[in-house]
Amino acid sequence: MGTLDGKIALITGTGSGMGRVAAQIFAREGARVIGTDIQAEADKETAELVRRAGGEMTSIAPVDLTDADQVRQLAEDAADAYGGLDIVYNNAALQRFGPMPDFSVEDWRVTQAGELDIPFYVSKFTWPHLVRRGGGVIINVASVAGLIGGATPPMVAHTAANAGVIGMTRQLALEGAPHGIRAVAISPGPILTPASDRDLGDDQAVRSAITAKTLLKRFGRPEEVVELAAFLASDRAGYITGANYAVDGGASAW
Ligand SMILES: NC(=O)c1ccc[n+]([C@@H]2O[C@H](COP(=O)([O-])OP(=O)(O)OC[C@H]3O[C@@H](n4cnc5c(N)ncnc54)[C@H](O)[C@@H]3O)[C@@H](O)[C@H]2O)c1
Repeated sequence: MGTLDGKIALITGTGSGMGRVAAQIFAREGARVIGTDIQAEADKETAELVRRAGGEMTSIAPVDLTDADQVRQLAEDAADAYGGLDIVYNNAALQRFGPMPDFSVEDWRVTQAGELDIPFYVSKFTWPHLVRRGGGVIINVASVAGLIGGATPPMVAHTAANAGVIGMTRQLALEGAPHGIRAVAISPGPILTPASDRDLGDDQAVRSAITAKTLLKRFGRPEEVVELAAFLASDRAGYITGANYAVDGGASAW
């Protein structure tokens, strides 16, 4: 028996990184998963991996989640796929990094669209489906950058957007409670995904600069974030709402 048996979960950004692992772990726990990503081929690959492991996943891709009209349609299609929605896992994001004052207005806007518009649009358009179902859970992936500043790399837009995601989560919890909707944020520290591992290459100086702020002196693994998300999405976490959980190896503790 899985902790998410009978649940229907929409997970964004399932084409790679933590989103792909989320699709696999949620399906392992018995959820029927609807995944979406702007990268259609990669998302289909995730669905294939899930099915091969005996899970259930429908991919709806490509969808550009920064486009409100596409997200409105996605919410309808996702709710149609298995007959409703119980869990909305806002994982997808796109951000830019760079130092002040060279960080351009376009960099700023791309990051706010990629990190704030996406979870707002997805929450807004799936909300009526959760209400219709008598409640559900919204999980917003924020970042430790929403709690503390970050030096490597410089991240003015990323810090602002993720503080916004944490604030939005509290408000969704407040407005959702009368409908049985819980909203919870998770704030990962540095997590090594296939993409970030590739980008960092063998630059040990940058790797060490990033992990130095953690107490555990290492990157986290996607599973270490997603296992918490699976718990928070389950009925076992029924009294948890409006909270933000750091999964950051202790980076925000000092
Ligand atoms: N990796 C880390 O160290 C880290 C740390 C803190 C927070 N986070 C957050 O965790 C989440 C997942 O991170 P990740 O490292 O797995 O990221 P990733 O870049 O590997 O995956 C993000 C996915 O979202 C998709 N996506 C981006 N823009 C999209 C759009 N407009 N429409 C549809 N899909 C889009 C991408 O195609 C990609 O598959 C993100 O919200 C990220 O901000 C990551």
